[in-house]
Amino acid sequence: MCGIVGYIGSKEKRGFLINGLKELEYRGYDSAGIAVLKDNEISSFKATGKLTNLDAKTADFSSEGFGLGIGHTRWATHGKPTEINAHPHWGEFSYVIHNGIIENYKEIKDTLVSDGVTFLSQTDTEVIVHLFEKFIKIGENAFSAFEKTIASLHGAYAILLISKKEPDVIFFAKNAVPLIVGRSAENEIFFSSSDAPLIGWAKEVMYLEDGQYGWAKCKELSLFKSLKTQALNFKALSQDKILAQKDGFRFFMEKEIYEQSIVVGETLMGRIKDNSIVLDELKDICFEDIDAIKICACGTSYHAALSASYMFERLSKIRCSVEIASEFRYKQPLLDTKTLFIVISQSGETADTLEALKMAKNANMKTLAICNVDNSSIVRTADFTLLTRAGIEKGVASTKAFATQVVTLWLLALFIGDKKQNISQELMRLEIDALLHTPLVVKVNEIVHEKIRRLSKRYLHGHGFFFIGRDIFFPLALEGALKLKEISYLHAEGYPAGEMKHGPIALADSELFTIALMPKTLLYDKMKSNVEELSARDSTILAISPEPFDIADDFIKTNLHTHPMSEFFEMMVITQLLALEISIRLGNDVDMPRNLAKSVTVE
Ligand code: M6R
Repeated sequence: MCGIVGYIGSKEKRGFLINGLKELEYRGYDSAGIAVLKDNEISSFKATGKLTNLDAKTADFSSEGFGLGIGHTRWATHGKPTEINAHPHWGEFSYVIHNGIIENYKEIKDTLVSDGVTFLSQTDTEVIVHLFEKFIKIGENAFSAFEKTIASLHGAYAILLISKKEPDVIFFAKNAVPLIVGRSAENEIFFSSSDAPLIGWAKEVMYLEDGQYGWAKCKELSLFKSLKTQALNFKALSQDKILAQKDGFRFFMEKEIYEQSIVVGETLMGRIKDNSIVLDELKDICFEDIDAIKICACGTSYHAALSASYMFERLSKIRCSVEIASEFRYKQPLLDTKTLFIVISQSGETADTLEALKMAKNANMKTLAICNVDNSSIVRTADFTLLTRAGIEKGVASTKAFATQVVTLWLLALFIGDKKQNISQELMRLEIDALLHTPLVVKVNEIVHEKIRRLSKRYLHGHGFFFIGRDIFFPLALEGALKLKEISYLHAEGYPAGEMKHGPIALADSELFTIALMPKTLLYDKMKSNVEELSARDSTILAISPEPFDIADDFIKTNLHTHPMSEFFEMMVITQLLALEISIRLGNDVDMPRNLAKSVTVE
C-alpha cells in the first residue's frame, strides 16, 4: 500500500519528505518520489527500489524558505514498478500523488487522449493531473478545477496536488484511503497516510473522513464535503512511533485483520463492471484452449488454493486439482498444455512454489501467478499475473493476504465460468452481489472481538484442537488450525468434519477442543451430526454458527447470510481473532513467532 506525505512551510522540505516516507516504509513500496514547489519552480525526483535510492538522487537538493512539498511511496497496482510509473505525475504546470485506485480511469483517459493529451505512465493516477489542467484550460480557477476533478473520480483515493497556478496551496482529497492533516505551533501544515511521519513535527492532527477534500495554505485550511464547508476537527497527536505504525493496535497481525475490509475492497476495485468480471490482465489467455486447472502453493496460500478448487468446479465448471508445491516438485507429475497452471503466493518468493512454476513453464503450460508483490520472482516468471492488492503484510501469520487471495480466486472462477459460458446471468448477479458484500462481512465486529478475547482464556491448555468443517469450510478449518499453531504453539489440526469418525475421533476427550465451523448455507445438518459425535465423546466444543447449538460448551454467533462465501469470510475473521487472542494470553510474540520466517526462500 502506498504512502503519502506533504508539507507547507519554510523548513528544508526534502528532509521532512524523505524522513516521512521512511516512516511509512512498513506499508511496503517499490518506488518513491517527491516534488517541491518554491519560487514558482517545481523540482521533482523519482527512483525505483528502496528509499536510499531517492535519498542519493536528491542529496544535492535543498529547499530552505517558504514552499510546498509532496512525497510518495508506490506499491504497484496499475503498471510495473518503474521510474515512469512512480509518483508524482505531472501535466504542464501541476504535479499529483495518489494512493488507492481510480476505478473509472480508463474512461477519463480515453476522453483526455481524444482531446490530445499525451500520457507518460501506465498508471490510473496520471488522469488526475491532466483532468485538473483540462478544467483550468477551459477557464475554471484552480479551486473549482480541483473540485470538479474530484467529483469526476470513482474509486479510492488520498490525493495531494500542487500547481504553479496557486503556488502557495496544496490541494487534497480523501476517499476510502487514509489521509491525515497535521498542524504545528508555527502554522506549518503537514499531510500523511498515518501518524508516524508527523511525530516530532505536528502538534495536532485531523483524520479526514471519506468524501472530504479541500486546500491548504500556511495559515489557512478549507475543508469541504459534497460542496459544503466542513468544520475543522483537530486533536492532539500522540508521540509514540511504534504505536503509530501499528495504528494503535497491539500487533501488526491485529492491524492486518482489521485492515481486511479495506484491502478486500481494493482487490475488487475496477474488476467488476455491470454484471461481469473484468480482468484485463488476462485478456490474452484463450480459455477455449484450457480444459483443466492445476494450482500449486504452500501454507496459507495452499489453503486459498483448496478453497478455490470448489469454486472452479462449481462456478467455472472446469476440473481443478491442487497440490502442495514441495510435493509436486518431486512426484514426476504428468503435465498437459491444456491445463492452466496457477501458483499462489503472498511474497512471490517462496522457493518451492517458484520451482513448481518453472517446471510448468518448462512443460509449455500457460502459467498464472496470484500474488501480492509485483515484480517478485514469481510474478516475473509467470506468463500472467493477478495482483491481490493486500499491501505489505508484516505479521508472519498471514491474514489479509489469505482474504485477498480467496477473493481474487473467486473473481477468477467467475471470469473463467463466464468465458466458458458456464454461468447464467442470474447466477453471475447473485455471485457479484455476494462479492461486493465481502468488504462489509470481513469488517471486525468489536463486540465479537471482545467476546473472543474473553473466551480465549478457556483455550490455553488441553492436548489439542480440531478445527472441523465441510466443503469450502474444510480449507477454512485447515487455515484456522494453521493460524493457531503458528502463533500459540498449541497443537491444532484442520479436518473435514465427515472424516473424524475414520480415526481422529479416537483422540476425543474433555481436553480436546473442537472448533466447529457450522454455516447455515451449506450442509448444516451433516455438520451438526459430526459435532454431536464429538460431543458424545466429551470433546469441548466451540461452535461458530448463526444458529445457537445446545450441546456446544461455547458459542460464537455469526450473522445469517444467503451466500456460503459470506459465512466463510465471517468465520475466517473469527478464527483469526481466536488465534490472536490465545497467543496474546500465552505471552507469545504474535508478529514474529518462533522458528518461522515471513518469506521462505529455501527448500
Ligand atoms: O508467500 P507465500 O504465500 O508463498 O508463503 C507461503 C507460506 O510460507 C505462508 O503462507 C505461511 O504458511 C504463513 N506463515 C501462513 O501464515
